[in-house]
Amino acid sequence: MCGIVGAVAERNIANILLEGLKRLEYRGYDSAGLTVIRDGELHRERQVGKVQALVDAVEVNPEFFNGHIGIAHTRWATHGEPAQRNAHPHVSGKIAVVHNGIVENYAELKEDLLAKGYEFTSQTDTEVVAHLIHDAYKQTPDLMEAVRTVTPLLQGAFALGIVHVDSPDELITVRLGSPLVIGVGIGENFIASDQLALLPVTNRFMYLEEGDIARITRDSIQVYADGIEVKRSVNEIDASQHNADKGEFKHYMLKEIYEQPDAVARTLEMAIDSSNTSSLRKDFLQCNEAQLAGIRHIQVLACGTSYHAGMVAKYWFENLTRLPCSVEIASEFRYRNPVVVDNSLIICISQSGETADTLSALRDTQKQKPTGLVSLALCNVPTSSLVRETDIFLPTHAGPEIGVASTKAFTTQLAALMLLVLKIGVTQDRIDEQRLTTLLGELHKLPGQLYASLHLDASIKKMSEHFEEKRSCLFLGRGLQFPIALEGALKLKEISYIHAEGYAAGELKHGPLALVDKDMPIVVLAPKDSMFDKLKANMQEVHARHGELFVFASEESKMVAEERMHIVYVPEVCEILAPIVYSVPVQLLSYHVAVMRGTDVDQPRNLAKSVTVE
Ligand code: G6P
Repeated sequence: MCGIVGAVAERNIANILLEGLKRLEYRGYDSAGLTVIRDGELHRERQVGKVQALVDAVEVNPEFFNGHIGIAHTRWATHGEPAQRNAHPHVSGKIAVVHNGIVENYAELKEDLLAKGYEFTSQTDTEVVAHLIHDAYKQTPDLMEAVRTVTPLLQGAFALGIVHVDSPDELITVRLGSPLVIGVGIGENFIASDQLALLPVTNRFMYLEEGDIARITRDSIQVYADGIEVKRSVNEIDASQHNADKGEFKHYMLKEIYEQPDAVARTLEMAIDSSNTSSLRKDFLQCNEAQLAGIRHIQVLACGTSYHAGMVAKYWFENLTRLPCSVEIASEFRYRNPVVVDNSLIICISQSGETADTLSALRDTQKQKPTGLVSLALCNVPTSSLVRETDIFLPTHAGPEIGVASTKAFTTQLAALMLLVLKIGVTQDRIDEQRLTTLLGELHKLPGQLYASLHLDASIKKMSEHFEEKRSCLFLGRGLQFPIALEGALKLKEISYIHAEGYAAGELKHGPLALVDKDMPIVVLAPKDSMFDKLKANMQEVHARHGELFVFASEESKMVAEERMHIVYVPEVCEILAPIVYSVPVQLLSYHVAVMRGTDVDQPRNLAKSVTVE
């Protein structure tokens, strides 16, 4: 988390830094700050809260920040509360540092620095880095060399941007475990945690490898790995694919909900040719067929919403291919010394591809070196660490997702997972032709069904009025809808701050039924599927105890509204793909409840979109 931006140019760079920070705000928004070198001095401004507070502060005296080199930061607090003194950049003498990540051994380093007489003004781990570089610079007055001396002392994961008043033409950057790209301009160069930050100024990017240190000037970029200068290629991207405007929508989240039919269609195109829906496209994961043929077990690792996508995939893999599939939250998996069985496919699902726990869990499986291990990244960011560290990359084509609450990233993950299930099933002769043709035909209809589900928006908005004053809520589902119940509860709690829990409806009687009374809204995902009759019995249990039901059902279910039972009919969809379509109403419900309660929908309190710390 946290976002960093830096620039060295002939023009004034303050606005480039501020615009970059706005685009990185999804990474954290507890405080923001920037430093520009001007007239032989560091000019720094830091503000608690969102980037706009920093923009407003800079506008009071903009000339003060006119400069050609600078660094900036938007923070998600880890060490030290969100306060001005903890906001980056951190300064030691003439050196300023911005940092994304965590320096785990900062306390010991701080002890040493205190003994040397350094004073600390913040509670952060980053200030240690600034002082260490300052100390090293005293021995070797070359910024690059000083940084090179310091980085081996730091344990943890970090990306750094560093400037020094005495070297006003160079920006030093380090990447070790946290994302960082270099934006390549003409007579100007930039750094950022995400290329999205730099799209207004360049579409050419250099991706650093872990451990790289780079010296960046207006017209040169030198990259070093283990002290040796190395070449890193420059890639040009199609900036139109990275449109990050809200357009006509009030919030990114709503825009992203509405983008789902197109996004899912793009993802499906990887494997399905609309002129032939009876077989998978030949080129879909073609070069990975040998790897996929040997797999006997599937292990999914993910966090948050991506974990819920993995839970759906478990049902699909086991039902359709009979391959055993385990799914685990990455932060648990990595610390329990798990057994990785031979011939496992490790599927890491991650929108960002930078989630620290998912990356570490992947590395742990690789360290065990089981025979026939194959790793796959299901990811929305092709240049991410996760993609680089896995054998196979299966992209989701969601486009940039800015709202912290994940929507289109989730449904495209589900679409891609279904394609993967089919590919493995076909490769291993576990899915017959007839079933494949039926499923491909159903997948082909999916974007249209998602589109139709958006027509529920007005009725769901109406339904959401019942939730405005509530303090707690249950989401129920069974079978394939259980993960969607969890996802619905996660969406509601993260953006509306209403406490919500998702439950497998069969578990109701083992505890949560005690919570049910007339004040408890209960959202039920009720397609007419093989679990419907069982689910109906669970709904009766709730209704009999005066709970108020809010049911997303298919018309085919013939359910009718009655007292304390509200129904919204969801477009017909086959049972196996229903979790994708039923995601839309729960997203819309959370969205409207949050808007009604006046919360910050796109940037809910205490959260960040890209969680690069454990
Ligand atoms: C954060 C985001 C969630 C996301 C989770 C995992 O908590 O707010 O929306 O599901 O991280 O992120 P990933 O990028 O690995 O999917």
